[in-house]
Amino acid sequence: MTTPVDFDLTAFAHGLPKAELHLHLEGTLEPELKFALAARNGIELPEKTVEEVRATYDFTDLTSFLAVYYPAMRVLQTAEDFHDLAWAYLLKAKEQGVVHAEMFFDPQAHTSRGVPFENVITGYRRAAVRAQDELGISAELILCFLRDFSAEYAMATLMEALPYKAWILGVGLDSDERDNPPTKFAAVFARAKAEGFFLTMHCDIDQVGSIDNIRAVLEDIGVDRIDHGTNIVEDPALVALAKERGLGFTTCPVSNSFVTEQMKADEIVGLLREGVRVMVNSDDPAYFGAYVGDNYVALAEQAGLTPTELVQLAVNSFEAAWLTPARRAAYIAAIEEYATAQGVPLPAQGVRLPA
Ligand code: ADE
Ligand code: ZN
Repeated sequence: MTTPVDFDLTAFAHGLPKAELHLHLEGTLEPELKFALAARNGIELPEKTVEEVRATYDFTDLTSFLAVYYPAMRVLQTAEDFHDLAWAYLLKAKEQGVVHAEMFFDPQAHTSRGVPFENVITGYRRAAVRAQDELGISAELILCFLRDFSAEYAMATLMEALPYKAWILGVGLDSDERDNPPTKFAAVFARAKAEGFFLTMHCDIDQVGSIDNIRAVLEDIGVDRIDHGTNIVEDPALVALAKERGLGFTTCPVSNSFVTEQMKADEIVGLLREGVRVMVNSDDPAYFGAYVGDNYVALAEQAGLTPTELVQLAVNSFEAAWLTPARRAAYIAAIEEYATAQGVPLPAQGVRLPA
């Protein structure tokens, strides 16, 4: 079976049922909503137009991105603000074929400026529940600790989150990796695991010590997934270990092209073709101008991916998602049905069932 000649790859990629596993809710703050929330909360912004806001998106690396990302968050104050942010994202996610989202949020970016944890979690949770009811998207939350704050503050945040445990699927680690290795948070992640949370950590692209940090998250922390992490290609033995464990890598090609000089398509596609469980996500789509379906298209165009390889990426997104085996199998069956209806051959090894 070959793909039809008049095949529309963009439409196929957008319609493909997919899980989004690497998405920072605070990274979905579009300038229009930023202005609306600033007006509602009586906050004066230095930029007066959407164009002026976008002109500040001049990133050369992770640090220069974070320097724009955190100050923008001051418009987020009430539970309603957090709800509106997440809801606006979920509406966009629906258009991009997302049927399941495990979404990061950064409570310390808010509690550190005096916004109660309760405002953050109740607002986000209300949007997640609404997404299931009104959009048919299952939406879950992953609490990320900011690695440039102390381990003590991370532990205090974990304690503050425990009353809301039923609303939080896992914990992650993000922000500036420089001088903030995974081992700094070993005790926090051990406690989170004991509390029943899934674990993931950012291993950002081309950091000083990237490969050592990847080794530590695999060997010392024992994460269930890695965010970015494609520098693993520097150590074939670690690639073999990740493959054997079926570990998911939540890659973000368009984000990579903003914080480094390229999408890292060779690394992502090399791992995909080696059978490592990589998939494609959007990271901070309001800042990088591409939601998840757009990332599938960008990678496909850059690397010459076949529609069948896009199917494999979508399958991987569910294989790496923190779902029950029955739900995972149902989502993978929906992909199979979608691809077959569009005349797209399934991956050669067949759609792999979860381990
Ligand atoms: N916070 C938001 N996006 C991030 C990224 N890609 N890496 C680290 N921290 C982040
Ligand atoms: Zn990220």
